[in-house]
Amino acid sequence: MNKKTRNLVLALVAAIGLGAATVPLAGAQTVSSVRGADVSAPELEPGSYRVLPDGPPIPRDYLQQPPMIPHKVEGYEVSTNFNKCMDCHSWTRYRSAGATKVSLTHFKDRDANELSNISPRRYFCMQCHVPQTDARPLVENTFKPATGIR
Ligand code: HEC
Ligand code: HEC
Repeated sequence: MNKKTRNLVLALVAAIGLGAATVPLAGAQTVSSVRGADVSAPELEPGSYRVLPDGPPIPRDYLQQPPMIPHKVEGYEVSTNFNKCMDCHSWTRYRSAGATKVSLTHFKDRDANELSNISPRRYFCMQCHVPQTDARPLVENTFKPATGIR
């Protein structure tokens, strides 16, 4: 590539870059959520939802669903040093805690090797399992599970 062509290419790349950077800014004003409110508008102030009292397991809506957490989790530490969830849900503790043991699938790494403890990709339980509050659903949901595998 000679110097002239290189400069032309660089100028083109810069122009495309500038264009891409300005597009989201122009679009941002018109974005609204499915419920018709500004995406950043909270339904209620954070903290105004009541966490539901501890109860039995919540029925799953489809087979592959991570079960929802039917109990309070406030103050449960999940950090480098400690995983409070595993205090009750590990295979060595679940019986005495009266809890469900973590799924066998949670010991596999991404290459499907079986590990002797919870897989790093399952370590942060609340990426997938979430506690429940009395918040109303934001939008109507007409989902129906597939009938063959109920
Ligand atoms: C003090 C013990 C304890 C701790 C700590 C605990 N749990 Fe539980 N968990 C339970 C018990 C007991 C049940 C089952 C209730 C039942 O079967 O009636 C349960 C149920 C669940 C279920 C529902 C399982 C199903 O089959 O539907 C999930 C999901 C869950 N817990 C996730 C978590 C997560 C995530 C954490 C950490 C943030 C956690 N739990 C911490 C005791 C605990
Ligand atoms: C990447 C998402 C993800 C993470 C992270 C995760 N889970 Fe799960 N979990 C699932 C899914 C999906 C299922 C249902 C399908 C299955 O068994 O794999 C499940 C099932 C379960 C069950 C029910 C098992 C049964 O026999 O019915 C328990 C209990 C559970 N998880 C606890 C935990 C705990 C405790 C952690 C953290 C240490 C955790 N999970 C982390 C996705 C996840």
